[in-house]
Amino acid sequence: MGASGMVGHALLAALRSAGWKGLGSYYSRHIPGGVLMDVASSDSVKACLKEHKPDLIFVGVNARGGVDICESDPSQARGVILEGTRYLLDWAGHAKQILYSTDYVFDGRAGPYGEEDPPHPISVYGRLKWEAEQELLSRSPNSLVIRTTAVFGWNRRSKNFAMQIFERLSEGQVFRAPMDQWCNPTLDEFLAETSLRLADSSQCGIINVVGRDRAHRADLAVLLAKAMELDPGLVQPVSTAELGQKAARPLQAGLKTEKLAALLGRPMMGLDEALSILGRRCRADLARRGVS
Ligand SMILES: NC(=O)c1ccc[n+]([C@@H]2O[C@H](COP(=O)([O-])OP(=O)(O)OC[C@H]3O[C@@H](n4cnc5c(N)ncnc54)[C@H](OP(=O)(O)O)[C@@H]3O)[C@@H](O)[C@H]2O)c1
Repeated sequence: MGASGMVGHALLAALRSAGWKGLGSYYSRHIPGGVLMDVASSDSVKACLKEHKPDLIFVGVNARGGVDICESDPSQARGVILEGTRYLLDWAGHAKQILYSTDYVFDGRAGPYGEEDPPHPISVYGRLKWEAEQELLSRSPNSLVIRTTAVFGWNRRSKNFAMQIFERLSEGQVFRAPMDQWCNPTLDEFLAETSLRLADSSQCGIINVVGRDRAHRADLAVLLAKAMELDPGLVQPVSTAELGQKAARPLQAGLKTEKLAALLGRPMMGLDEALSILGRRCRADLARRGVS
C-alpha cells in the first residue's frame, strides 16, 4: 500500500528484483500496473483486498503533506494513518501486515531509542502512528511494525529530504536545515531490502530499520549536497525554533539498531555507503536526461 510513495516505490523495485510477485496501490498519483485504493475508505479497502487476496501487506501510506499537514488537517491524517490501519485489519483476512512507523512516536529528549523504550509523541503524526502501531499489534500479534527515520533516495516523484535539497540547490537557492534535529539517515533501498528479509522471517512485534550512523539534519543536508555534486555552501544551518515548523519535532531522535544487527548478523548500512549509492543514482539519471 502506498507504492506511489518513496518507500512503496523502493519496495516494489526490491520485490521485483527478488523475484517476488507484488502489486502496488496508489491513491492520487497513478502508477503503471498499480491498483487504486483509498485506505481511509472501508469500502475501498474491502473491494481491493477481496479482489487481490494478498498474503502479505506492506503498509507504506502516509497522510498527504506529511508531518506538518497532520497538525493542520488532523482528520485527514487520522483517516489515513489510524482508520486506514483499522480497515486493513478488518479486511486483510490471513494476510500478515508490515506497518511502517517512525521515531516521531518519541519526544526526542533521550534518543536514539530502542524498541522497548516507551513512546511519548509530541505531534499529531507521532500520536496517530503510535495508535496505529498499538491497534495493529493488539489485533494481529504476528504482524510487524518497522520503525524508521529520515528516509532518503533518488526518486523524482518524491519530496524526500534528498530530493528537496536537489530541487533547491540545483536552482541556486538556499536550503535551511535544522542543526538540532538528530536522526539516523536511511537509504530507501536499504529499508526496502531489509523489509523483504524481515518479511521472509518469523519476526513480529516492533523492529527498528535505520542507517547505522546518526547525524543532525544540517550536516546531513551538506553531505547530501556533496553526494549530488551541488554547492554545500547553499545549506544554511538554523535552529528548529528559527525554522518554525508547524509540528513539534523530536530533537534527540533516531533509533538504535542492535536488535536488527543481531538478527541479520551484520551491521546496518553506514551513511558513507548510502551517500555513494545516492550519488551514483543521481549521476546516472542526470546522464540519461542529458544534464551535465
Ligand atoms: N519518509 C520518511 O522519512 C519516513 C520516516 C519514518 C517513517 N516513515 C513512514 O513510511 C511510510 C512511507 O513513507 P513515504 O515517505 O514513502 O511516504 P510518501 O512518499 O509521502 O507516500 C505516501 C503514500 O501514501 C499514499 N496515500 C496517501 N493518502 C492515501 C489514501 N487515502 N489511501 C491510500 N493511499 C494513500 C500516497 O498515495 P498517492 O501519492 O498516490 O496519493 C503514497 O503512495 C509512511 O507510513 C511513513 O509514516 C517515513
